[in-house]
Amino acid sequence: MPVGALQRHFLNLLDVSADDLRQMIKRGIELKQLRRSGVAHESLPHKTLAMIFEKSSTRTRVSFEAGMAQLGGSAIFLTSDMMQLGRGEPIEDTARVISSMVDIVMIRTHDHSKIERFAEYSKVPVINGLTDLSHPCQLLADMQTYLEERGDISGKIVTWIGDGNNMCNSYMEAAYQFDFQLKIACPEGYEPQAELLKKTGSHCEIVRDPEVAAKGSDLVVTDTWVSMGQEGEKSGRQAIFADYKVTPQVMEQAASDALFMHCLPAYRGMEVDENVLEGPQSAVWNEAENRLHAQKALLEYLLVD
Ligand code: CP
Ligand code: NVA
Repeated sequence: MPVGALQRHFLNLLDVSADDLRQMIKRGIELKQLRRSGVAHESLPHKTLAMIFEKSSTRTRVSFEAGMAQLGGSAIFLTSDMMQLGRGEPIEDTARVISSMVDIVMIRTHDHSKIERFAEYSKVPVINGLTDLSHPCQLLADMQTYLEERGDISGKIVTWIGDGNNMCNSYMEAAYQFDFQLKIACPEGYEPQAELLKKTGSHCEIVRDPEVAAKGSDLVVTDTWVSMGQEGEKSGRQAIFADYKVTPQVMEQAASDALFMHCLPAYRGMEVDENVLEGPQSAVWNEAENRLHAQKALLEYLLVD
């Protein structure tokens, strides 16, 4: 019998109210300050996070594992090929067993329906650590970074350049929740999810040309042209996306105090020029660090009453 509907999960940004998201971002900033000042803050003693990875990760794994340790809990790192899941045990059975033993679960997988099925059968909260559809944890970090470096993002213009992929979908949800305008420059056939575009249409529009989309923008964002699972399409994608690159010329179209963000890993010379990634407008290293702080706030939000 599915029990997950009674639980609070974090599968997409639209699962949580705009107020709760803003509170989480602010809490991320507080937790960052506590860590900077060397104050131990163990709000999750004896809590255990199980992390299931069906794709590679550097930031997501380290930030969740370190975050749980810093909050006084622990994390278990699992990959599907080291689990019975990889030998065909159903996700529903895996969910019922794991959620009877730990307090919270994070999953990184391909098909979004898999994490939805897990959540449906889980007795504990489930966090989306990236699926083919979305990457909401990254948006917590990105929104924290903008708030720290430039203040409130509401009413600002954000430009997405490149593939209408999982990150782009989550940016559309963020535009809706944090009330900014998102301009998306992507090639035809590589648009974000149509249903989501309809839902968030008041805040998002497709503007094909990168330089036009970047005009007056407060934040320019991109991501790899070849997401995990698309390795076989690499050379075709590199040709299709060749004009969807964040270059100094694109950044010149944006506001003079515009920031550049990228969830990383970045491919220099492909979706972003080295000069932009390493330049003064780039917020990518703070953005990456903020995965830790923002997700600690998320863990508290899901686990502390
Ligand atoms: N940005 C991000 O999710 O990075 P990892 O793939 O390294 O976790
Ligand atoms: N769109 C990328 C994000 C990696 C963090 C991917 O899915 O591979």
